[in-house]
Amino acid sequence: MTIKMLCSAALAVSACFLLAACSDNDNDDTKCKGDETPTERLFLQQLSDTSVILKWRGEATAACIGTEQDKLKIFGEATETQSGDKEVLFTDLSPETAYWYSIGAAKTAPDDQSFVTSPEVGALPADGNTRVWLIGDSGTGGDDERESHEGEAAEVLAGMQAYIAKDGEPVDVFMMLGDNAYSVGSDFNYQQAVFETYPALLKALSVWPTIGNHEMGLGATIPVAGFSQTADPNSYVAVSGEAPSSMPYLDIFTLPTNGEAGGVPSGTEQYYSFDYGNVHFVSLDSQLTARDPDQLAAMKAWLIDDLSSNDSDWTIVIFHHPPYSKGANHDSDDTEKFGGFDMPQQWMREAFVPVFDNYGVDLVYNGHSHSYERSFYLTDLVGKSDTYSAARNAELVNGDPDRPASGRGEEAYQQLSPTSGGVDDRVVYTVAGNGGKADSSSSITDPAQWLRHVAMIEQPADTAVPKRRALAVIGSVLVDAGENRLVASFIDANGEVLDRFTINR
Ligand SMILES: [Fe+2]
Ligand SMILES: [Fe+2]
Repeated sequence: MTIKMLCSAALAVSACFLLAACSDNDNDDTKCKGDETPTERLFLQQLSDTSVILKWRGEATAACIGTEQDKLKIFGEATETQSGDKEVLFTDLSPETAYWYSIGAAKTAPDDQSFVTSPEVGALPADGNTRVWLIGDSGTGGDDERESHEGEAAEVLAGMQAYIAKDGEPVDVFMMLGDNAYSVGSDFNYQQAVFETYPALLKALSVWPTIGNHEMGLGATIPVAGFSQTADPNSYVAVSGEAPSSMPYLDIFTLPTNGEAGGVPSGTEQYYSFDYGNVHFVSLDSQLTARDPDQLAAMKAWLIDDLSSNDSDWTIVIFHHPPYSKGANHDSDDTEKFGGFDMPQQWMREAFVPVFDNYGVDLVYNGHSHSYERSFYLTDLVGKSDTYSAARNAELVNGDPDRPASGRGEEAYQQLSPTSGGVDDRVVYTVAGNGGKADSSSSITDPAQWLRHVAMIEQPADTAVPKRRALAVIGSVLVDAGENRLVASFIDANGEVLDRFTINR
């Protein structure tokens, strides 16, 4: 059924209303006769196996797509967002198929405007592997961080590109772990830190973000960037004294609320899930939703629903505040400082670790701490770091208190523990908030603990003496999810792998 038909069907009106971009696309190729029109920003949203949203800022009011670059056939009229950006939803596409597109509804697409739809939900991609790129706290291309961290986000991107040039495997899924656009997450910050930093990727891949503390501008009680402590998305303030408004993030992105790209409808753009072939992805909101007990409970109930109806090979969850971290300014054992602005680290750990353990989550990625920290295979760690016992965890994971599961080298993690009764109850937690800067000094209360959370593995590539359980350099993560094996790698700005682990099913 086309979206046009869906919109005109009386019973489907409410479903149509829920679609952010209920557009008017049809196969009348005589409408694809415009001119390619320049844009200030151009990106894909909500890519699925049968649909995509093209979103842009510029004069054009329509777009065309098609499987042949010079014979675009499917026309779509744009709808306008709150800030005047344009978007078109295209539906009825074929899975794992390359499409070209023009903005302005031209017959021919420029060479750099194409994308590939997702594989069918549950299916392994044709090349046998889903490759995910994750960057955290990458927003240093935005205003006041531009000088202190000049070019660092671009160096991280170049490192990833140097790595994938070696094996020729392209990225399929692009995720951002929050603090995507310093320092206040304004539209202008996003223009610099996101749209001008990753233009080629954004035109080819759908970007899937989460909300960091810097997406909410200044705090009401502490008027400093990143210190907002409310659950209200309409409490956004970029400049001291300004009247509160809705957060730019929610207008910039068009995220699924109704399961548009798979998963159970969340009813909010603040958290959502989607499928890409053999992988199920979840983006939770640790910045706003986590601060209101009722909203937190609703997000948890939704996640349990969502994961209960998911039987993908692999499940990856992202959110901004790490449940376990000894980062420079964000210690998961000391969350009450500065009026409690880091409490979401603890609240997310207490509410969600049991869900991750019991509903088949394999990997959790967070940002916020500007370092790379990767955990042992964990289960049942809801307390602070002093409740972690290496021997107990090793016993739970390997049935042997003397053999911790580091997942390094040949020692792959196994999803099933000896005592799990066939349930996948193991999770690897990774902090990767070093996509645009790396902390070099610490305000952590006990400096001896900096980058040494006991549930994280020691990092051989660390240059400190003695070595830490973290890497304090810039870089990003590539996850390769195959049918029976998942490999996650930390790639530095030179394209070198500094940490890698494997999970076998
Ligand atoms: Fe950050
Ligand atoms: Fe942060």
